[in-house]
Amino acid sequence: MAKRIVRGLGIGLGALIGLLVLGAAVVYGVSSSRLSKQYEVEPEPVTLSSDSAVVARGRHLAESRLGCADCHAPDLGGKVMIESPAFGRIVAPNLTSGQGGVGGGYTDADWVRAVRHGVAADGRGLVIMPSAEFHRLSREDLVAVLSYARQVPPVERSLPESKLGPVARAMLAFSAEALPVRTLDHEAPFPASPVEGVSVEYGAYLAGTSGCRGCHGPDLSGAPSHEPGGVPAANLTPAGRSGQWSEAEFIRAMREGKRPDGSDISPAMPWQAMGRMTDVELRAIFAYLRSLPPVVSES
Ligand code: HEC
Ligand code: HEC
Repeated sequence: MAKRIVRGLGIGLGALIGLLVLGAAVVYGVSSSRLSKQYEVEPEPVTLSSDSAVVARGRHLAESRLGCADCHAPDLGGKVMIESPAFGRIVAPNLTSGQGGVGGGYTDADWVRAVRHGVAADGRGLVIMPSAEFHRLSREDLVAVLSYARQVPPVERSLPESKLGPVARAMLAFSAEALPVRTLDHEAPFPASPVEGVSVEYGAYLAGTSGCRGCHGPDLSGAPSHEPGGVPAANLTPAGRSGQWSEAEFIRAMREGKRPDGSDISPAMPWQAMGRMTDVELRAIFAYLRSLPPVVSES
């Protein structure tokens, strides 16, 4: 009897292990072919600028809501963003023209292709880089941030290569969003430039281009962390905890990482970067969040 159970279990386990190995092989194969695929995108031509006001605006965007300085380091010299057995090693490259950087060899079109279309200069689709959001930037905002990025002082920093772990590979195999180049309409024209001001419309534009959805979910009602065991992103609709906050409390949370009850917001929320937004930008986002339909969720 015991023997039969053991034998039965043996077969069951063998089959299970076989299935797991097969599953892993499929995930590995699909993700590898997606990673090595070449994408040809001819971006709409833009003219980058050396005008100091444009560059200053670009710096503001890069250091606040677009998060370039958060992921690629404040000097845009790149950094290892994530290093974990499950997710793997995710490196945001050195964007400068210094040794180990990609920027020196970039044409204006290469900058647009990478940021607006999610395609590296060598034709690879970019992962983690939030090009799906950046695709919705107005022409003025894109020109500003790229005009800033291409003129930062050269930084000498050689970083290791990204190496995707099983969780990142599974994301690539099962979700089209993991490789933004696959989901974008590359022929789409630039959206109309938004009118700046404390309005729901401007807030919608800001929230739609600042990565909020990438973490807080498509309807902003919260989402689990991409990293196993990571902090889930909160529900930002009026049904969530922050739906009770005043505008001043929201701005303080974004600037200081503190909730009205005094508790700390985890650094998994990039509040240090997002909090650099101007009052007008933060107030517009607040107005937009308040206009959302309340969605009850667990986060
Ligand atoms: C959430 C983190 C994150 C943010 C925010 C981000 N990047 Fe990236 N970026 C990455 C990662 C990771 C890669 C490498 C992706 C890869 O190799 O598949 C990358 C790649 C790039 C590349 C392509 C480099 C190459 O290998 O050719 C450029 C250019 C770039 N980013 C510019 C920017 C700019 C400009 C901004 C702000 C507008 C920005 N990034 C914001 C994470 C980020
Ligand atoms: C890289 C992922 C990421 C991005 C991008 C991001 N958030 Fe968050 N956010 C989080 C996480 C994770 C938490 C939960 C932190 C915690 O529980 O301590 C959070 C918490 C918050 C909170 C506190 C809510 C509460 O109930 O405590 C607010 C407000 C917030 N985010 C607003 C925003 C807005 C607005 C944007 C876009 C401008 C944004 N976040 C972009 C990950 C992100």
